[in-house]
Amino acid sequence: MDAYILDAVRTPRARAKPGKGALSGLHPQELLAQTLKQLPLRTGVDVADVDDVVVGVVSQIEAQGANIARNAVLAAGWPISIPGFSLNRFCGSGLQALSLAAMGVASGAQQLVVAGGVEQMSRYGLNADGGGTDGGNVDLRRRFFQVPQGISADLIATLEGFTRQELDAFGLRSQQLAVRAQAEGRFQRGLFPVKHPQTGEVLLAVDDHPRADTTAEKLAALAPAFTQLGARAEGPDGETLDALALRAYPRAGAVRHLHTAGTASGIADGAGAILVASKDYVRAHGLKPRARVRAVSAVGSDPVLMLTGPALAARKALDSAGLKARDIDLWEINEAFAAVVLQTARALEIDLDQVNVNGGAIALGHPLGATGSILVGTALDELERRGQSLALVTLCTSGGQAVAAILERG
Ligand SMILES: CC(C)(COP(=O)(O)OP(=O)(O)OC[C@H]1O[C@@H](n2cnc3c(N)ncnc32)[C@H](O)[C@@H]1OP(=O)(O)O)[C@@H](O)C(=O)NCCC(=O)NCCS
Repeated sequence: MDAYILDAVRTPRARAKPGKGALSGLHPQELLAQTLKQLPLRTGVDVADVDDVVVGVVSQIEAQGANIARNAVLAAGWPISIPGFSLNRFCGSGLQALSLAAMGVASGAQQLVVAGGVEQMSRYGLNADGGGTDGGNVDLRRRFFQVPQGISADLIATLEGFTRQELDAFGLRSQQLAVRAQAEGRFQRGLFPVKHPQTGEVLLAVDDHPRADTTAEKLAALAPAFTQLGARAEGPDGETLDALALRAYPRAGAVRHLHTAGTASGIADGAGAILVASKDYVRAHGLKPRARVRAVSAVGSDPVLMLTGPALAARKALDSAGLKARDIDLWEINEAFAAVVLQTARALEIDLDQVNVNGGAIALGHPLGATGSILVGTALDELERRGQSLALVTLCTSGGQAVAAILERG
């Protein structure tokens, strides 16, 4: 694909509880607008040239409704000629935005597109739009009962034979790598401090989600997060969620509830934005892109297991780029749950030493619509730091889907 990334920027990710958190007081349009404003500052590009702004956001209601992309363009003070639209591919939304932007400029239809994502989970937590996994379609439920993600994650761990200790070790690794990355300033290039729109006071300058005091012992003491959820009788005929998962996968025998708050992605507020240009635009303006988007992909996978799409999406993107998994220097596999990364790495036969080398959403949080765009910047920063070439970013999503993108530096 001929699509070039000029820069990628993000807010810090803030811990989010309902109505609480360092970024909870901002309007989500302002959170996104501050992120957009960074792009021309950093690249010197004339924003009047932006053909479109594509923004991933999952809960498109209330303050996050009303086409947050277009409103953030206006809130950023950008020319009114710049359009914007929001999209929802659940947790893959921010990377889907990059895919669309890349397709737009590679096709020749567009020259300069901003891709991004935003989610303020302190206002709109999981399932804030009330749609659940299937919009309450009872007929569909009898064909495919899409159990909640936590149950899917525990089912994957059960089927793959992962132990609680293995998942906890992965949770600890995420925390340790994220804390090291922060201490070494590895996130600094992509980060900007979010400020209060009126007072200019810095609200948050660094990710505040990691827990530096995490230990194996503390993780081992945490209660499983989804046992009670699994026992809820929410099936069309009064079946529990666990029973519905087992109906699809009887060989599991029982759903082993192994994930905890220490091995699941954290609830967070945040936004990210990426400036994507065509080859012609890059040439005409004498720009030096940070990376080329080599390939993008989206796949559907089993909607009950739900979170096993990343390996499929990765393979599809690799095939389209004419690459093999072993060609990839760095992987960003979204840490929706520990079992997702472990299953993906196992399926692709890749070394965990190349995966999420600066931690992931378990430690840093997962602001749903934003994470995909944030991970693109994380991958680019680390490729540059290491002097390496190729990164693959992938995220699982609700509904049994996944998205991926391959980035080539320089
Ligand atoms: C798993 C989940 C339910 C936990 O929610 P929660 O209980 O609100 O989680 P918290 O992060 O607040 O942690 C709760 C407690 O666990 C303990 N804890 C969490 N992480 C810990 C760690 N790394 N080390 C030690 N203790 C930890 C703490 O005691 C914490 O309480 P505190 O913040 O008061 O100290 C929630 O994070 C979740 O749903 N995650 C998945 C999100 C998701 O599905 N996203 C879409 C992906 S497809």
